[in-house]
Amino acid sequence: MTAPRYGAAPVDSVARLVGSTPLVRLRRIGAELPGIRIFAKCEFANPGGSVKDRPALRMIEAALADGSLGRGKTLVDSTSGNTGVAYAWICAALAIPCALVMPANVSPARKRIARAFGAELVFSDPLEGSDGAIRKVRALVDAEPTRWFYPDQYGNEENPRAHEHGTAVEIAEALDGRVAAFVAGIGTGGTVMGTSRGLRRLAPGVRCFAVEPAEPLHGLEGLKHMGSSIVPPIYREQELDGKISMPTDDGWAMAERLGREEGLRVGHSAGAAVAGALAVAARMAEAGEHGNVVTVLPDRADRYFEPGRWERRIAW
Ligand SMILES: Cc1ncc(COP(=O)(O)O)c(C=O)c1O
Repeated sequence: MTAPRYGAAPVDSVARLVGSTPLVRLRRIGAELPGIRIFAKCEFANPGGSVKDRPALRMIEAALADGSLGRGKTLVDSTSGNTGVAYAWICAALAIPCALVMPANVSPARKRIARAFGAELVFSDPLEGSDGAIRKVRALVDAEPTRWFYPDQYGNEENPRAHEHGTAVEIAEALDGRVAAFVAGIGTGGTVMGTSRGLRRLAPGVRCFAVEPAEPLHGLEGLKHMGSSIVPPIYREQELDGKISMPTDDGWAMAERLGREEGLRVGHSAGAAVAGALAVAARMAEAGEHGNVVTVLPDRADRYFEPGRWERRIAW
């Protein structure tokens, strides 16, 4: 599970290309703040196009190592989002059978991308939404426990560990351990918890903040509003220095700015993370503090585009 490196040397599997993502300095966003530099970790550069490649690979590798996956078992989980894409391509690369449970009414593009990697799709009641998909996967696993491996990213400690031993190490190395603040959105909480744990060891004095949607019904796909959700077991708020509440409009507006001003066409949760980083940076500047503020760009905007007619066969 060592962090691989991009380079000219051949690799024996595309799964070895997860991690070692670029860290990019934002040149215009935050430029007005003296002594502050904002950096963005480009997780869209992972082979599956999102931050979820890291925990998916680590959960799968850990399960292969301890025997809970293998001997013909099928990986099963209830996700149609970035984690589903990550499971589907990694399972294809490692020759592991994969089944994804999703509500029957998810977009055709979401179904096509999973099928493009050979995953089996199981549909749950469209009226029951994502909770219905969770109930369905649990029922499948309860009925035939020896048939399935259920990673359960919300409760699996390998999810934050992927960031503690990957994302955090890469950030600390890139900035010689000089990180004043780290800011990331909360979905499962894996990114913010794991990276914060790693950075506390490798970048002494770092302060760590989570960004969550301000509204229960929000448009920041991939992020969770904790007050109205089941809190994931891996998320431990008491370990963090604070939480930033982000209105959907502010996250969307920052995603637009990142495209126009930085050349980074990213998803809305990335916009929310950068808006959170800018708020932390502004507070630091006001207090006369300086240093590096680091955040994470989980995926690219094109994951949310509806494909045009000629693109449909290959669209995400
Ligand atoms: C687009 C997007 N942003 C952010 C996140 C949050 O990441 P985490 O689950 O590590 O908290 C996710 C996770 O699914 C995501 O898909």
